[in-house]
Amino acid sequence: ALERTFSIIKPDATERNLTGAVNAVIEAAGLRIVAQKRIRMTRQQAETFYAVHKERPFFGELVDFMISAPVVVQVLEGENAIAKYREVMGATNPANAAEGTIRKQFAKSVGENSVHGSDAAETAAVEIAQFFSGNEIVG
Ligand code: CMP
Repeated sequence: ALERTFSIIKPDATERNLTGAVNAVIEAAGLRIVAQKRIRMTRQQAETFYAVHKERPFFGELVDFMISAPVVVQVLEGENAIAKYREVMGATNPANAAEGTIRKQFAKSVGENSVHGSDAAETAAVEIAQFFSGNEIVG
């Protein structure tokens, strides 16, 4: 089915000027960038976004990282966009990521792993709504 997923190009990637390089991989995979903006996440936004990880030992580090430099938030559209983008990103830990994936090519570590992508349709809808209003998404 035609789906939308939420993507973040994370601080480790924006700092190294890799926004275009990441977008090239996204577009080459057949995903369409239907919304995109560069923002500096607030602590509040990062804590809300990662609320499911609140009890994890790395939560504080994760939030600090996400607000350490600009990020690019995006909505990606395509056939099976949610699963397809997770394939294109590669495993969370770049050490386990497959050849050609974004994380294999660009990620520095499990924490500084260059991109985020929604894990399911319900989370995609919630994550998109946190950062975009309907009229900002142009399919
Ligand atoms: P993401 O897909 O954005 O969702 C949760 C994030 O937590 C994940 O990517 C990783 O960047 C981060 N994360 C997962 N495990 C660890 C870890 N062991 N140490 C630091 N960050 C982690």
